[in-house]
Amino acid sequence: MGKEFKRHLITSALPYANGPVHIGHLAGVYVPADIYARFLRLKGEDVLFIGGSDEHGVPITIKAKKEGCTPQDVVDKYHKIIKDSFQELGISFDVYSRTSSATHHKTAAAFFRKLYDEGKFVEKESEQYYDTETNTFLADRYITGTCPKCGAEGAYGDQCEKCGSTLSPDELINPKSVISGGELVKKPTKHWYLPLDQYEEWLKQWILEGHKEWKTNVYGQCKSWIDGGLQPRAVSRDLDWGVPVPVEGAEGKVLYVWFDAPIGYISNTIELLPDEWEKWWKSEDTKMVHFIGKDNIVFHCIVFPSMLKAYGDGFILPENVPANEFLNLEGDKISTSRNWAVWLHEYLVDFPGKQDVLRYVLCANAPETKDNDFTWKDFQTRNNSELVAIYGNFVNRAVVLTHKYFEGKVPAVRTLTDVDKEVLAEIPQIKASLEHNLSTYKFREALKDAMNLARLGNKYLTETEPWKLAKTDMERVATILNISLQLCANLAIAFEPFLPFSSAKLVKMLNLEKISWNEFGGAEILAAGHQLNPAELLFAKIEDVEIQAQIDKLNATKEANQAAAAAAAGTPAPLPQKEECTFDDFMKMDIRTATVLEAVKVPKTDKLLKLTIDTGIDTRTIVSGIAEHYTPEEMVGKQICILANLAPRKIKGIESKGMILMAKDESGRMKFVTPTEAVDNGACVG
Ligand code: 2FM
Ligand code: ZN
Repeated sequence: MGKEFKRHLITSALPYANGPVHIGHLAGVYVPADIYARFLRLKGEDVLFIGGSDEHGVPITIKAKKEGCTPQDVVDKYHKIIKDSFQELGISFDVYSRTSSATHHKTAAAFFRKLYDEGKFVEKESEQYYDTETNTFLADRYITGTCPKCGAEGAYGDQCEKCGSTLSPDELINPKSVISGGELVKKPTKHWYLPLDQYEEWLKQWILEGHKEWKTNVYGQCKSWIDGGLQPRAVSRDLDWGVPVPVEGAEGKVLYVWFDAPIGYISNTIELLPDEWEKWWKSEDTKMVHFIGKDNIVFHCIVFPSMLKAYGDGFILPENVPANEFLNLEGDKISTSRNWAVWLHEYLVDFPGKQDVLRYVLCANAPETKDNDFTWKDFQTRNNSELVAIYGNFVNRAVVLTHKYFEGKVPAVRTLTDVDKEVLAEIPQIKASLEHNLSTYKFREALKDAMNLARLGNKYLTETEPWKLAKTDMERVATILNISLQLCANLAIAFEPFLPFSSAKLVKMLNLEKISWNEFGGAEILAAGHQLNPAELLFAKIEDVEIQAQIDKLNATKEANQAAAAAAAGTPAPLPQKEECTFDDFMKMDIRTATVLEAVKVPKTDKLLKLTIDTGIDTRTIVSGIAEHYTPEEMVGKQICILANLAPRKIKGIESKGMILMAKDESGRMKFVTPTEAVDNGACVG
């Protein structure tokens, strides 16, 4: 038995307010955190679920410069988009605030000041790049030069985007300022460092000895950081956007974004509960769990805990940090800069009322142990073959039949058969598995458990076929429908953490006041005689056209990216690949070698030639749009390839039987496809 806690503090990574959130953020952090929070609330636990926007850091200042506005304008815009879209998806934060708030600035500054006063930081002066035109020290991202690894121009002081190498500004060849383009000088500047090396032994004990139960990806990353030896980390920066360093003589310096952001969890608690926040942060009875993506592990497992430890004063540490891996989109890494993402605020417009479908698919594909892929086809299949065909179908049948045979009143159970008893015995077993999986952050498995409950119901109705018994044995029909409706009530509970909108619909259909985890597993949630509301469909089929529209949108993005990359490299982009075809599709095409016997221009047209072709099978006419590329004289005698079995078409009144195969490049040039050596006409190509 693990320790019993009186309350649960759940934090979810504060997203940077320099763009909207996408499905990668959702699958990795917010959907699992929300499922966990909802599950605990349903169990009657005391829960506080913290969210908020991370509004500091260099990328926000870069975005502001690019857009010709202030960093505050940038964060105001995205904070609103992010907050509203989370709310619409049903992410049930108890508070969603922001790190540009006055409360946060005050809290973060006070946190720093206490550590400073107690001598917990190391002060160090170092030489940093300074832009003499703008009179500012430059963050790594603001320095550009030639990559020392691959020689690419335009590498940044922290990374070369061409070869992916992590760099430091000192490694760049010919470093220049991104802002002014001017030369840089080195100047000394003072910063404060958190001496992580001093916490190494303690971290070893606390994580490597004390938290062997953490997920292997999280434990493994912590171990490799600790085993590699921890170094002091600067907690301040020379920048004019952020929480000013609250020390005299520190003008022009702010707290490093990764120092202030996790303190945002505390500030947001203070904002919500100014008089009670300490109960949540400084009591051993509170279980704190951080939900994050894998790129945040070091900050939540090593840096922030060291900050809390340095602060002392009873601050608790996380019990667990169930970080996830990354979600890809249609086989490619999600990328904000390449717009390769499904943006939540756009999804909500494109699929109104389908919040639960996205929640379902993202949980079913959550990258819990390895990177995973989201595809629109899978999204459609999971909706149509699982939500509609299993869960929705079962509930609909149970409620509709009850209306049909019992005027919508829950019928009383008569005699239980072995089949009924087996079904009823399975419900508590599924509950136990679901509860175990949710408590141990295995949300994908937990969702499978919930779906198994729906499968159980579906199978039960299909096997017992109450609609056939209605003429002969109404007592049996009553029992079957009672059990089915109890299953529906259990489903409303089981799915609430995952699919809150559908559960609310189902609760209304069953005419229940409220649901609770305690009732889950029972066979008497609905009393005999209880009146149901009319049946409503829980889910609707998603059609091919809706999915194709999303795929087209992504293809357009891909084309734009290819064109931009090609333009940057000075070469036109290749034409995009067409939609996949099957082997059978291909085999339908009868491609043959053939020779042009005669060629004449089609009168009153610029592009068309009328060709007489020896196909080896027959002699026929093909009209082809190649007059701008070849003269009739050039054509005669050429051996070419044709699609022989293309349905005949009339072009300018001439019947054309087949198509000449041409290679067409991105600039529109066309060339014949010709065998490298002469072969007999009519030879099959394929
Ligand atoms: O990686 C990110 O998106 C960060 N903004 C997460 C911050 S989490 C916490 F520390 F606030
Ligand atoms: Zn490089």
